[in-house]
Amino acid sequence: MPELSLLRMPNVSRRDLLTAGAALAAGAGILPSGADASIADLTQSGTMVPVRLQVNGKEADLLLDVRVTVLDALREHLDLTGTKKGCDQGQCGACTVHIDGQRVLSCLTLAVAVQGQRIDTIEGLAGANGGLHPMQQAFIDHDGFQCGFCTPGQIMSAVACVREGHAGSDTEIREYMSGNLCRCGAYPNIVAAIRQACTQMPGH
Ligand code: FES
Ligand code: FES
Repeated sequence: MPELSLLRMPNVSRRDLLTAGAALAAGAGILPSGADASIADLTQSGTMVPVRLQVNGKEADLLLDVRVTVLDALREHLDLTGTKKGCDQGQCGACTVHIDGQRVLSCLTLAVAVQGQRIDTIEGLAGANGGLHPMQQAFIDHDGFQCGFCTPGQIMSAVACVREGHAGSDTEIREYMSGNLCRCGAYPNIVAAIRQACTQMPGH
């Protein structure tokens, strides 16, 4: 069975992801195994399975194809479209969410593989009273976006960057935010926003 962490690495191709997902599902008894069931057969079988996800503090019971990613589960099945689909192959960071507090590329993570884990998206970042998270406010204060398409992924990644202790300098922030691309080139403003928010986030 493949390590789940492999499914979250940015350099894993979509083909690798589907192959690993099929092997994972077969190993978990979700898909049939046997001499006649090749990996190719499994990845094309479209087997539907019940999946229970915990998203932003709520449980959701879904019936999903085993190949459905967390990104598509959020956008297509839970109507949580704040998480964006840019490249859909692990290159841009637009789909970044947190799983058990770690930033993850949701386009490279299978929904079936994260059952029982906490998924947090941009929709769940604001406080219970609706107040903006310090990182959201900082992006507004510093114009950390132009078109805004990359922004949910940037903000989720930025929150994790601070929590990881990787916001000590502009250079460090640039390095640890390098997986999140911005076609509008708002990078200096994003760095400024993170520098502001890291002084305001609880525990930092
Ligand atoms: Fe996931 Fe681009 S949409 S990395
Ligand atoms: Fe447009 Fe980043 S604000 S892609």
